[in-house]
Amino acid sequence: MRKLIRGGTVVNASESATADVLVDGETVVGVGRFDGVDAEVIDATGCFVLPGAIDNHTHLSMPFGGTWSADDYDTGTRAAAAGGTTCIVDFALQMHRGGLRSSLEEWMGRAEGAAHVDYGFHMAITNADAATIADMSSMVDEGITSFKVFLAYPNVLMVTDDQYLAVLERARDLEALTMVHCENGHAIAHLVSKALAAGQTDPIHHALTRPETMEAEATGRAVRLAGFAGAPVFVVHVSCKAAADEIIRARAAGARAYGETCIQYLFNSVDDLRRPGFEGARYVCSPPLRDAANQPHLWDALRLDHLQIVSTDHCPFNDEQKRLGLGDFSKIPNGLAAIQHRLPMLWEHGVRAGRLSPNRVVEITSTAVARMFGLERKGWIGAGADADIVVFDPARRHVFSCATSLMNVDYDIYEGREVAGSPRLTLSRGTVVWDDGRICTRPGHGQYVRRAVFDARRL
Ligand code: URP
Ligand code: ZN
Ligand code: ZN
Repeated sequence: MRKLIRGGTVVNASESATADVLVDGETVVGVGRFDGVDAEVIDATGCFVLPGAIDNHTHLSMPFGGTWSADDYDTGTRAAAAGGTTCIVDFALQMHRGGLRSSLEEWMGRAEGAAHVDYGFHMAITNADAATIADMSSMVDEGITSFKVFLAYPNVLMVTDDQYLAVLERARDLEALTMVHCENGHAIAHLVSKALAAGQTDPIHHALTRPETMEAEATGRAVRLAGFAGAPVFVVHVSCKAAADEIIRARAAGARAYGETCIQYLFNSVDDLRRPGFEGARYVCSPPLRDAANQPHLWDALRLDHLQIVSTDHCPFNDEQKRLGLGDFSKIPNGLAAIQHRLPMLWEHGVRAGRLSPNRVVEITSTAVARMFGLERKGWIGAGADADIVVFDPARRHVFSCATSLMNVDYDIYEGREVAGSPRLTLSRGTVVWDDGRICTRPGHGQYVRRAVFDARRL
């Protein structure tokens, strides 16, 4: 059965137009005027018709900080669809030395038959031994064309600089993209020890022991080593001006250095960690939330394409899980629940506030993500694209609340905040997943997506 999304404003990264979108099965077959075609009509009058958002930074069903992130591929992708996200690229973590294959199988197994929207994986390398480096090509063969390393979290996830360089070199040769979490893990460990010894145990000390300098230093190191290796590099979750400036400098010098920020760095600040009681623990993530003075710089970096993407780094933990760090901030599981909130928040504070055009919001949440991470049929609305489409109603008021959130957490970081518009309908490959408050698909609708290799000419 064909579907005709009629009368909306179709917004691609490059242009907007009032047009109908004709969908046949899983694919868009035309954008224009279609009178008298035999199709199920979806009236989009007064709405924006957007390519489904893609979230390239999520952590579903991930072991971390002595517990597991609270959303699995079912609950996490329901929430994604409700927020207008039709594809995620999640992080599979290397759990064993000497290769990547068994870890990938674990993650594939968890996602298969569970997801409501399409998904791919990055492979996070935590032990870059020779066998692991050799195994990287088999990941690319599977459509996993990006690898992540952490310069933070010593003794858990962190790789050393020599390992990072080895990953960069191999990824370059495989035409894959290296992603990097930039914080100086060892220096931070020193600051954490000193704070705990001084009895500073509250959530705010998580932020105070991970200062901006630690992120900027690691970002500068990461982009320099990538430049030395002649490898493209993508810096994840840039939180502050000092770190963004390192990327800007590298790009000005011709490096293939790219980066994202996340909604929490645009809309939350270090003050959230000072909330009374233990509520600040809900806002513990790494890099930490920063002084709000950074936010105008992050918006500028997005406007000027110094940063190319806004993701969520969705890594949810319930209050009970966060309480693992009661009396010792270093044991609070790191991460925020945000997968559902990106598009409505960016529309409100980006488009409606006059900071970004609708086209730029589409670009930083969908088109650039697809191009950066090799999702060839996603990120735009046009003939031949996957029919991953959001009918975004600018008049569909939404109040963020734990009561309406589909994320599997017992609080909402934006509780009570209101936005003017939100997704009315979300289609994944032509199937309605979210219809005005209701999830319509069964787990398993979402399929694994193989991704193409990195190509800077796409960007
Ligand atoms: O605090 C965070 N960001 N948790 C998820 C893991 C990571 O570093 O991305
Ligand atoms: Zn990270
Ligand atoms: Zn992350």
